[in-house]
Amino acid sequence: MSKADVIVGIQWGDEGKGKIVDKLAQEYDMVCRSQGGHNAGHTIWVDGVRYDLHLVPSGILNPKAVNVIGNGVVLNPQSIITEMEQFENLEGRIFISDKAHLNLPYHSLIDQAKEKLKGDNAIGTTGKGIGPAYADKINRVGQRAGELLNPKQLCENIMNYFSENKVIFDAMDVKLPDEVELLAELTIYNEKLGKFITNTTNLVWDAIDADKKILLEGAQGTLLDIDHGTYPYVTSSATVSAGACTGLGIAPKDIGVVTGIVKAYTTRVGNGPFPTEDFTDAGETMANVGKEVGTTTGRGRRCGWFDAVGVRHASRLNGCDQLSLMKLDVLDGFETIKICVAYEVNGERINYVPSNMDNIIPIYEEIKGWDSVVGCREYDQLPETAKLYIEKIEELTKTKVGIISTSPEREDTIIRK
Ligand code: GDP
Ligand code: IMO
Ligand code: MG
Repeated sequence: MSKADVIVGIQWGDEGKGKIVDKLAQEYDMVCRSQGGHNAGHTIWVDGVRYDLHLVPSGILNPKAVNVIGNGVVLNPQSIITEMEQFENLEGRIFISDKAHLNLPYHSLIDQAKEKLKGDNAIGTTGKGIGPAYADKINRVGQRAGELLNPKQLCENIMNYFSENKVIFDAMDVKLPDEVELLAELTIYNEKLGKFITNTTNLVWDAIDADKKILLEGAQGTLLDIDHGTYPYVTSSATVSAGACTGLGIAPKDIGVVTGIVKAYTTRVGNGPFPTEDFTDAGETMANVGKEVGTTTGRGRRCGWFDAVGVRHASRLNGCDQLSLMKLDVLDGFETIKICVAYEVNGERINYVPSNMDNIIPIYEEIKGWDSVVGCREYDQLPETAKLYIEKIEELTKTKVGIISTSPEREDTIIRK
């Protein structure tokens, strides 16, 4: 029996999970997504070619890996159809859980209408219908991917759902499809996706029992977790490693090595607290050099310094065995680099993440920068000051930095022995 290794985002998403999953997938038999939806955007570069993935797991570029979309994902059928069209012959290479809830166009319309109504208090969602789709699931009124196998029945169920919720749709001015349009849409989804929909719980158990190597690809990041993130400025799923168990139907004892993916600085898209956000030229440099533009929405990402308090907290929440430190090259050329070592809240110094992250003043230490780490593929090739930065991160976060990334390319990755 094997154990499933986990890749999990440690900050507010976009840490570089896609790059590491793609790199490691070369050694895995199966790559699984367990939560989130097409709000995720995982960019992978291989030999100068860019791939943007939203629902399709990042193992897809390894022809030997089987890819699974688990029950905990909310599935937008049109989004995954478009993504799958980039690749040839995916039969037997991708499986979708029949228990995954459907995220249909009306969920996006509700999401966008609600954000508009909130005005200045908007969460800054991706507008992809994630919250409304998960709300329907928890409210026990959702539709599941398995129902796509019988489009007529599914159409009837959705039409009933529309009439039960008519008052709400009308109040939000959400235009719904009529029965003919809806059935046509569901029939296409059935034709294109039907053969990929199956009981993935058994599939993953069989892989565990057959001692296959399994990698679980997180989406979003720990500080966007519905319970442990900066609520309400969070996404609607359990983004921490424990979420991978319920999102796939495996037990905690089936989990192996947990790798937390973390940038050498910090970014966030959307609204909500961000203690180490930097509004000076330094933050702008990180945004420009790091090309910090969201893959899913094209929004600019807010940038700031590495928050060791937040990362230590996230490492503990996820049970990280190691961190993978991404985008170290983006800090090239800074004379000094700041690292947040503690917080000040109401005049008091604290070294933990409070349940409400508003009104935190970061306390920094400064360390010397370095010239360039671009393209380094061995730890010993790194400048001494870059190594000191990494060691400082290990000390403050109480977690080993086992992987270091020095460019977007698959091969520019240091795996420490
Ligand atoms: P994910 O959502 O966690 O998979 O991350 P994204 O793909 O949304 O964002 C990470 C971005 O950083 C992508 O554009 C990657 O190509 C890029 N990236 C990943 N690792 C590195 C790195 O080490 N250096 C640089 N410069 N870019 C990187
Ligand atoms: P990956 O997997 C970064 C953010 C949105 C918003 C909040 C809620 O690429 O790391 P939602 O649409 O989920 O209801 O939006 O969560 N968000 C992400 N930020 N990376 C992501 O995914 C994100 N997915 C959602 O910007 O602040
Ligand atoms: Mg992303």
